[in-house]
Amino acid sequence: MSLELKGCLFDMDGVIVDSAVHHFVAWKRLADELSIPFTEQDNHALKGLSRVDSLEHILRMGHLQLDEKTKLKLMAQKNAWYLDLIKGMRAKDILPGARELIEELVAEGIKVGLGSSSRNAQMILDNVGLTPLFDTVVDGNHITLSKPDPEVFLKGAQALGLDPRQVVVFEDAESGVKAAKTGGFFAVGVGSEEQLGQADVVVSSMKEVTLRDLKSWVRPA
Ligand code: BG6
Ligand code: MG
Repeated sequence: MSLELKGCLFDMDGVIVDSAVHHFVAWKRLADELSIPFTEQDNHALKGLSRVDSLEHILRMGHLQLDEKTKLKLMAQKNAWYLDLIKGMRAKDILPGARELIEELVAEGIKVGLGSSSRNAQMILDNVGLTPLFDTVVDGNHITLSKPDPEVFLKGAQALGLDPRQVVVFEDAESGVKAAKTGGFFAVGVGSEEQLGQADVVVSSMKEVTLRDLKSWVRPA
């Protein structure tokens, strides 16, 4: 694929910080209380989904139908557990390689944005000290459709003043890679080839990506 690299959009949970495991722990606790079997393997399908879509997914797994008020209460409970797990999150919790790559991009004048389904994204970015490096933050508070819909990334590209064909998206979720590809972006999957095979390139960690690599991927010699 050949594109003029002008911007990058990063998912947050599982790409910039290792919070995916905390989401799992909190959902698992909720699923246990509802007596719904829920494993780490099941959790892969939840990555990238909004809070409400995640809850609906778990309830479907348990063939459980609940009223709106109960669902709101359960989501608030899950979020309280999650916030408790991440409250100590600081710069040390940035995933290896993420800050280095973002700094390289900024130094080169390439625009940087966040595209996350999380409503907690801005707070986490502030706590780990990365906010000043971002030109735009689009998160769960700004979108109506969560991944795999491309809305979050299309809004991110728009906020950067760029066309999707000029932007690379970094994602650790299957739903996120799908969102990026549906939106017309070049997608870098961060994780396993088995789960993220739809991406243009898959790396096992952000440590494996430099600006030089990116340029060679989007503009093969
Ligand atoms: C995504 C995570 O980034 O954000 C999902 O991959 C999570 O697991 C979603 O459910 C919503 O997060 P929050 O913080 O708004 O509950
Ligand atoms: Mg993620």
